[in-house]
Amino acid sequence: MSRTPVVLGVESSCDETGFGIVSDGVLLGQGLASSASQHAEFGGVVPEIAARAHLDAAVPTLRIALADSGVEAEDITHVAVTSGPGLATAVHVGLAAAKSVAWALDKPLFGVHHLAGHAAADTLEHGPLPERSIILIVSGGHTSILAVGDLVRDPIEHLGDTLDDAAGEAFDKVSRLLGLGYPGGPAISRAAAGGDPGAFSFPRALLRPGDAPFTFSFSGLKTAVARTVETLERAGEPVPVADIAASFEQAVVDVLVTKSLRAVRERELNTLVIVGGVAANARLRSVAQERCDAAGVELRIPPPRLCTDNGAMIAAVGDLLVRSGADPSGLRIAADPSAVLHGAQLPLPR
Ligand code: KG4
Ligand code: ZN
Repeated sequence: MSRTPVVLGVESSCDETGFGIVSDGVLLGQGLASSASQHAEFGGVVPEIAARAHLDAAVPTLRIALADSGVEAEDITHVAVTSGPGLATAVHVGLAAAKSVAWALDKPLFGVHHLAGHAAADTLEHGPLPERSIILIVSGGHTSILAVGDLVRDPIEHLGDTLDDAAGEAFDKVSRLLGLGYPGGPAISRAAAGGDPGAFSFPRALLRPGDAPFTFSFSGLKTAVARTVETLERAGEPVPVADIAASFEQAVVDVLVTKSLRAVRERELNTLVIVGGVAANARLRSVAQERCDAAGVELRIPPPRLCTDNGAMIAAVGDLLVRSGADPSGLRIAADPSAVLHGAQLPLPR
């Protein structure tokens, strides 16, 4: 019998450098570094700065992951790495690191899709996914409702995506225009905690009968917030930042939960999984829980530290791939910065 896999996952698609180690569905430990503070003065992630920070952080963060797991490098049986989507320069650093480790240890390498990693993160907390479920992915670059079976064996069906901004991007842009800084999600969330979510009635896009049922749009909401701030400033009135943040957050959460539950109902399923950086949001977590309870739907959301980017989620995909008998990608795997999510493992370049 072959020994239980011990999978190292490597993540570097945006501003977090993550290494995680997973064995048989269990997170053994991880290391995580962030360059977020280096991007703050620019109001968003600067790819070149992110890439340099990954290069600086790679070896120390890997060491932390090994120490945290109590695993020696030689115990690693497989390596998995985000090969897309993400910032090209940033993905390249993680890929180079993962290839080096896989080559030096002579272990198989898997190139995996970053968003499959977000979904797999939930299995580290709540165990295997049910036979079929609806997954809402809400990150800085993506907002999608997916119908999913076996995460690594079955094709992933997109029920709807966003027409313009991703949910996280909307948080980041609104945070900037309220002067709350980067990253926007946690900043808005903090400001919103003291505000009234009903103070402003911001638009909820594409919720009318006849609108695409699972498609999102957040650019109109961002513009509505900008107009509100401009109007108040022009009139010389104070801008109630907490109320605007809370009302904006409520509008985003309302649309996300309404459309996801509609997908669960329409597909006659009973599980909703919410993943990605925005799933760390306290209002989203509580509103989704309330509405899922009312609808008799099981809600699964990873703990906040596994919602934002990390290496453990990539190790989780690698572990699922290994246990399903998938063929490794090998050292030829290349970065695919705009990879669409059709499956957990990304194809080799032609
Ligand atoms: O999944 P993630 O870490 O990276 C991407 O794959 O994009 O998501 C980052 C996004 C950012 O836009 C950030 O503002 C948002 O997730 N985010 C949050 C919260 N924490 C992070 N949004 C709302 N509330 C939060 N607490
Ligand atoms: Zn992500």
